Amino acid sequence: MQMTALTSAFVYEAHVDALLARMTLAEKIGQMTQVEKNSITPEEVTRYTIGSVLSGGGGNPEENNPHTWAAMVRTYLEAGQNTRLAIPVIYGVDAVHGHSNVQGAVIFPHNIGLGAAGDPELVERIGEVVARELLATHVRWTFAPAVSVPQDVRWGRTYEGFSEDADRVIPLALAFARGLDRGRRVLHSFKHFVGDGATQWNSTQLAEWANADNWQAATPFYKIDQGDAQVDEATLREVHLRPYREAVEAGALNIMVSFSSWNGVKMHRHHALLTKVLKGEFGFAGFLVSDWKGVDQIAPSHYECVVQSVNAGMDMVMVPYDFRRFIDALTSAVQNGDVAQARIDDAVRRILRVKFALGLFEDSFGDEALLAEVGSTAHRAVAREAVRKSLVLLRNEGQTLPLARDLPALLLAGNAADDVGLQCGGWTIAWQGGSRATGVLPGGTTVLEAVRQTVSPETLIHVDPAAQFAEGVTAPVGIAVIAEQPYAEGFGDNAAPALAADDLAMIDRLRARCDRLVVVLISGRPLIVTEALPKIDALVAAWLPGTEGAGITDVLFGDHPFTGRLAYSWLRSLDQLPLARLKSDPAGPLFRFGDGLV
Ligand code: GLC
Repeated sequence: MQMTALTSAFVYEAHVDALLARMTLAEKIGQMTQVEKNSITPEEVTRYTIGSVLSGGGGNPEENNPHTWAAMVRTYLEAGQNTRLAIPVIYGVDAVHGHSNVQGAVIFPHNIGLGAAGDPELVERIGEVVARELLATHVRWTFAPAVSVPQDVRWGRTYEGFSEDADRVIPLALAFARGLDRGRRVLHSFKHFVGDGATQWNSTQLAEWANADNWQAATPFYKIDQGDAQVDEATLREVHLRPYREAVEAGALNIMVSFSSWNGVKMHRHHALLTKVLKGEFGFAGFLVSDWKGVDQIAPSHYECVVQSVNAGMDMVMVPYDFRRFIDALTSAVQNGDVAQARIDDAVRRILRVKFALGLFEDSFGDEALLAEVGSTAHRAVAREAVRKSLVLLRNEGQTLPLARDLPALLLAGNAADDVGLQCGGWTIAWQGGSRATGVLPGGTTVLEAVRQTVSPETLIHVDPAAQFAEGVTAPVGIAVIAEQPYAEGFGDNAAPALAADDLAMIDRLRARCDRLVVVLISGRPLIVTEALPKIDALVAAWLPGTEGAGITDVLFGDHPFTGRLAYSWLRSLDQLPLARLKSDPAGPLFRFGDGLV
């Protein structure tokens, strides 16, 4: 477990001291630099003694499969071995629900579903499987788990949070970390520090000096992501800091800093929280990594950005593009006395401590023998179990569910009736994820395929995503599998998270053709369904289940019971946003936190 890793980290302190004493300023600053693989060659990694290389969302090799991933990552690790002091490179990815960039990897339910499953032992096993699929490709670092505590479901990253309640988040996040660690020392990042889930709607701002060079290009679309958490210190500590305190106590070795602000101050330059609280009060001994160009959002001048962020406590900077500019700026800052040598040494000490704790100096690679396990039946079985346990039954009029396997006929409709991409959501193969229509085909089992595998051969299955069946086609049961279009980060910020008009019209059409209507909702958050609810006999929240669609039919057809319980309050109307307002509304939510018919 990480505590072992942390303890072992201090065991290596003498090695850290000895290595640090031999390093030049250039080598130290190289270790503080993390570069996206499309922006640097292996030769440059060696020349600049780069500490880490990453794949951003969708940062895949030309041909995307586990073998080509292993070959790509291996070249960067070998580049580390070729440096003067052979300081290992560590490769990082967003394996936030499986090794989810990789074609053929098992894609697990996103955290919102695991929050509904509420099973730390399962999540620990998921961590182990994810670690084995990462190690097969030599990846020793995942930027997960998020310990966000989302307070407003309009946020496009709600689904990356386990729950609106920190008490549900903490045990699941720590369990995931334990699983990754047992896999064999896969570094994980608790993220995003701190209060990323507490930001206010419409608080995301383009600074007056912002331009393409020093600001996230997508920000004009962002309304709450990367915004401002306007909460008092007591709330920040109780709800949003507490997961980090417990992660540090459990031996956390890495924490990723949030793009967001707290009461107007960017986290990427927040010395009080990064250094005084996290490193001082909590005793965090690992290293902090910035988010993607997050340092560049601090000030008009790049030099100022670097000075303010590193002095605030940033140890490694994620520089997706121009790494030379960052290295030059930090080098100048030290030479000018704007950043103390002692701050550089502290940052590099932390980075080296973690690399020793992970065993990278003995072996910085993974194990290609594990390639045989990527996407294996055994791994998919764990994901299928997770899907089953994540489903929440919210309505079941007349005991509609479970369905009989020997139905004479059934109607299957909805945009996600036969689309694994929609089942997976964002952070899948591509940064924003995608669908069959956009060519995101992660493999696995669609709901339609699972239904075909489940019902009797005599059952007539009529399929039409729009429920525009031929004249006279009816059936005892209609199933509508309705998905949000995939999104990631601020692209998912949505002022009105609700069933779309097309979905409501499709429900009406299906309603007219069946005796019992089941809706399976594939979404990254609770959606407003109040208007449609009376037309629905059974409503199942399936969240973003991933590749193993058979986990859905396992429960729909009664092979396994419903056990999931809401990890988020389910709002009745838009007036009940954010959560604080919902909690003060006497009408209460449509479905309460913890609800689930079992
Ligand atoms: C993104 C996300 C962060 C992710 C990082 C690398 O912008 O905010 O969660 O780990 O960049 O892809």
